[in-house]
Amino acid sequence: MVTVVGRQWAYTNRHHRRSEARAESTNRSGVLRMSADAQDFKNALAHWATGVTIVTTCSGGRHVGITASSLTSLSLEPPQVLICVARKLHTHKAILESGIFAVNILAVEQIEWGMRFAGLIPEYEDRFAGIDFTTAATGCAILPGVLGWVDCALRHAYESGDHTIFVGEVLAAGSQSGAPLLYFNRQWRQLSEERL
Ligand SMILES: Cc1cc2nc3c(=O)[nH]c(=O)nc-3n(C[C@H](O)[C@H](O)[C@H](O)COP(=O)(O)O)c2cc1C
Repeated sequence: MVTVVGRQWAYTNRHHRRSEARAESTNRSGVLRMSADAQDFKNALAHWATGVTIVTTCSGGRHVGITASSLTSLSLEPPQVLICVARKLHTHKAILESGIFAVNILAVEQIEWGMRFAGLIPEYEDRFAGIDFTTAATGCAILPGVLGWVDCALRHAYESGDHTIFVGEVLAAGSQSGAPLLYFNRQWRQLSEERL
């Protein structure tokens, strides 16, 4: 069963002030607070190093997907992950419609897929072109050679701001060794060989 928790929790009341991307909001206990400047917020979060995944889903027989760095391991019993997806994206709608998604953790050699599924290579009309993907439990695309993958049934969807947190129960998973693709400070990165 999927629970969609949405606007009833959205206590945010935004007032744009001149051209500044600042907002005042009231939280549940009625305390007024000032949201951070949008650029300060983006700069701060740019310093959070992440891995890079491709989130896939299959709705109406059509495979779609996006590059996403918002993967978090959520629960062990039952095994669950969460991803955050922008509500404006077609993949967002497709996940809600299908109730399934898969997350593919990219290896450093797969940087082109990271760019492609972020829409940074516009000439790809079909983002899956030339990718010989397989499927596991749900029918979502599992990309070849990825370092890890989880295939999920959607359990919860929590709307917040302009994104939705999708919680998926992991029905199947796989992994293999290799070097991860990373994203840090608006750049694609790789691990150094040095261990600390
Ligand atoms: C490294 C990286 C990580 C990203 N992570 C996310 C994410 O976690 N959630 C999300 O909604 N979009 C994320 N994006 C942006 C989406 O990939 C992008 O908006 C989407 O593919 C655009 O699709 P469209 O061209 O169909 O609009 C990320 C982009 C990059 C480059």
